Amino acid sequence: MFYSDDIIEEIRSRNDIVDVISGYVKLQKKGSSYFGLCPFHNEKSPSFSVSQTKQMYYCFGCGAGGNVITFIMEYENYSFQEAIKYLADRCGMSLPKADENEVSKKQQSERKILLDIQKTAAKYYYYLLGQPQGKQGLNYLTGRGLSKETITRFGLGYSSKFGNDLYKYLKSKGYSDALLKESGLITFDERKGAYDKFWNRVMYPIMDVNNRVIGFGGRVMGDGTPKYLNSPETKIFDKSRNLYGLNFARISRKPYFIICEGYMDVISMHQAGFTNAIASLGTAFTSPHASLIKRYVDEVYLAYDSDGAGIKAALRAIPILKSAGLKIKIIHMDPYKDPDEFIKNLGRDAFEERIGKAENSFLFEISVLEKSYDLNDPQGKTDFFNAAAKKMLEFNQELERNNYIEAICRRYGIDFKDMQKLVNSYGARIGYVEKSDPERAFEPAKSIKKPVKEEGILTCQKLLLTWLVEDPSLFPKVEKYISYEDFLDPVYQKAAKLLFDEYNRTGKVTPARIMNQFEDKEEHNIVASLFNTNLYDSTDKNAKEKALNEAVIKIKKHSIDHISKNAKDIQTLQAVVKARASLQTLHISL
Ligand code: GTP
Ligand code: MN
Repeated sequence: MFYSDDIIEEIRSRNDIVDVISGYVKLQKKGSSYFGLCPFHNEKSPSFSVSQTKQMYYCFGCGAGGNVITFIMEYENYSFQEAIKYLADRCGMSLPKADENEVSKKQQSERKILLDIQKTAAKYYYYLLGQPQGKQGLNYLTGRGLSKETITRFGLGYSSKFGNDLYKYLKSKGYSDALLKESGLITFDERKGAYDKFWNRVMYPIMDVNNRVIGFGGRVMGDGTPKYLNSPETKIFDKSRNLYGLNFARISRKPYFIICEGYMDVISMHQAGFTNAIASLGTAFTSPHASLIKRYVDEVYLAYDSDGAGIKAALRAIPILKSAGLKIKIIHMDPYKDPDEFIKNLGRDAFEERIGKAENSFLFEISVLEKSYDLNDPQGKTDFFNAAAKKMLEFNQELERNNYIEAICRRYGIDFKDMQKLVNSYGARIGYVEKSDPERAFEPAKSIKKPVKEEGILTCQKLLLTWLVEDPSLFPKVEKYISYEDFLDPVYQKAAKLLFDEYNRTGKVTPARIMNQFEDKEEHNIVASLFNTNLYDSTDKNAKEKALNEAVIKIKKHSIDHISKNAKDIQTLQAVVKARASLQTLHISL
């Protein structure tokens, strides 16, 4: 970390969270908190809350949460350092230069040189493509229907047949062996010396959103293997935070992106006018990819290969895209394999038509599901409908769920009421609670996989921590029975320790400050949930007191059980017995 805790805390406290988030999300005051539609998942009624007193946000729908720094990191896809810089700027604070130490300066200039190397290599590959020795490469690309303009626009090139051609060229430009090794373009071998990673391939430079070359894909011209070689990840090339074609797609002015599987698909699509096509970089689709996309559009169309592998890849990508809040449709390419082949055979208008006919992603998933059942057999049919009903539980909103039930019933000719009953029975079985509020009906009890008991104890722990944050006068009473060590989960324990420590030092607590002590965003989300649990809301003081005591006793008992289970000596066991006895008389009055 380049900045001191004090500076980070000052920047955090000078950026009011309600002010900052209001710039991104429309917020409405409700009670002591502000509510809005969560920017991190797709929802129709607001479950995203921002608390001015806690200076934290928390989404009751998807569990995203944190302080103002977390928000900027998540929303803008910034690193911690970048978020700090942004917020310092926003409140007119100049960051002390001295804190930006030598290491960071060196890293900055190293990144610059690495970018420089990629750019130099891209220019060289492009140059070779136009030379006599690059003729085969050029023929290959034009043979696949690419125009001169397209080749130039994507900066396509050719890597020489001679194994150290690029190395020699880059050396002539004065780059050090150390940085060339880091660039991923040159491999150093004790016996063979330095040689190029790519040779005798057509080259596809990979650009970041700012059109800077950060790596390459190289394809054999013909049927050799491996078909593609890709640059390894480097300091400037993070495959899960970049997408092929995004530099063009982001300015395409289309409200959706088309996600393809391959480089060649993206290039053909752009040539045919679909400049909103993108692809991942020879890796599976990840959730950082999805959040990256969500910065530009709310909807994606999947144009994956029509073969088994493509369908599998689509099924894997759908939930990832969905949880980033993207709407998803599936473009069918049959009878062709991929967008490149489709366009080559049927042209752009036919593809446009397929976009218009794209299938809703849920119905696509159901169609795939259907294939593993024999619908001519009564048992197979029953099993399939049961599987479909179970799947329907992913819709939290009743209206939305009913719309899907209706669509499925229409498709398979079954009765709406029957299907609805089936869906509801599954809802009840896995612990979804149907409450009176239709928006909240079927809201999953977070993390269904955990055993109920475990889930219950974590809820109690969250409840207690939230309670303490909202009413610090409870600390002295609670501390008589509970210490941070009673929280067994490491993240919970660390948060509890920071909380108790701060209270004992200063007599108050600032949960948003505690958050600064956690580095990764996952942890921020967990910590935010600890301080933002829905409290037992009642004006009845006795009922409240009962709820508090129940939570404290449960937490303590769980902790004693844990100690007892791991006890290795008689003293510990005696302490356990004593602690159990004291549980009998435990009572906190409000
Ligand atoms: P063409 O066969 O030239 O049309 O390429 P394509 O872009 O259609 O590729 P394909 O659909 O076969 O594969 C999709 C993507 O997966 C490619 O663009 C590459 O990013 C990646 N890929 C394919 N083959 C390989 C391989 O052999 N090695 C690696 N590392 N990646 C590959
Ligand atoms: Mn292809």
